[in-house]
Amino acid sequence: METLLTQLNNPGNWNGLAIRYEWPHVDRIWINRPHGEKICLHKIYPIPDDATPYYHPHPWPFRVRLFSGEYYMNVGRCLSELELEQMIEPPVCARFRLTAGSCYEMNDPLVWHTVEPIIEPVYSVIHITQRWKHRVSNCDKCESQKRLSSQQVSELLAEFVDKFGIDTLSNNIIPL
Ligand SMILES: [Fe+2]
Repeated sequence: METLLTQLNNPGNWNGLAIRYEWPHVDRIWINRPHGEKICLHKIYPIPDDATPYYHPHPWPFRVRLFSGEYYMNVGRCLSELELEQMIEPPVCARFRLTAGSCYEMNDPLVWHTVEPIIEPVYSVIHITQRWKHRVSNCDKCESQKRLSSQQVSELLAEFVDKFGIDTLSNNIIPL
């Protein structure tokens, strides 16, 4: 296995998706790491004024760091596994405004969130593990999204590297 830095630096190692099924729209590129882990770079676009941000749980734990931009994030939590299985939206119990440098983890399958970029796109890195994989998943929807071409993947990677530097990207990927 290549070192992380070498792997990050090679556009041929990256996969890409244009995620458009809900708001906000996201361009995602990712590399696969051992043990089913993934490292994703996200460019998350602001949503229209009349659009509702997608409120959702995640089937796996992850850690995020924002490199630039800002977003609001609503957070809520189901009271039980049953509520989650039935996809009963929990009430929002907290709202955050996250800025460049902010980090957070979602490590509870019952937690839901939204993200709403403010004015500009948000650039972030996400480290996903398969430490647990909950049966409730929005991944199928996501994986059916349009693949980015190799040129689009290269361009988005170059955008991240130009803006933040490959060392910054590498150093800010902190395993869960
Ligand atoms: Fe999410």
